[in-house]
Amino acid sequence: MSGKFVKETDEEQAARRRFLKHASVLLGAGLAAPAAARAAQGEVVDISRIPVDGMGTLNFSGEPIVILHRSKSTIATLEHHQSNLADPNSSQSQQPGFADNPYRSKVPEWLVMVNICTHTGCRTHYEQRMEGGAGGFYCYCHGSRYDAAGRVYNGMPAPWNMEIPDYEIDVKRKRIHLIRAQRPRIAY
Ligand code: FES
Repeated sequence: MSGKFVKETDEEQAARRRFLKHASVLLGAGLAAPAAARAAQGEVVDISRIPVDGMGTLNFSGEPIVILHRSKSTIATLEHHQSNLADPNSSQSQQPGFADNPYRSKVPEWLVMVNICTHTGCRTHYEQRMEGGAGGFYCYCHGSRYDAAGRVYNGMPAPWNMEIPDYEIDVKRKRIHLIRAQRPRIAY
């Protein structure tokens, strides 16, 4: 059977153009979907108004989050009191890999943490001067004390350091993008 060239009418050409236009919109929507899904998975937080030694709080994904702007002196204390801590390297605690450092953060100045005491789940309070004059978190329920990286001190009722969530940080634009946790969480 031989092929036969059939010239499109004006109406057929218009219909083909409409189809191609429609097809490209669908493809574009397909490419845009992951970005929309990513946006739905997180929340961008403006941290530009949190002063040094100040803290912001918010609820994210049903959990209380604290964002602490640590001073240089607070940062310095985190490197020098490992022996006072129950789990100084956070080997027993929930945190993303990027937090495997004494600050438990992406950049030393900013702590982003789930503010749930790991004893029975109370909220903690940040004290500017706590252990040895350094800042830290205190739980009024049963007296657990944590350092300014959320690491619990020795001999406290709380068994683990407080949890660090997944996030991205843009230091220049002072934005934190909280990312919904994909891993199972310890129930307190
Ligand atoms: Fe924090 Fe018990 S809940 S010490």
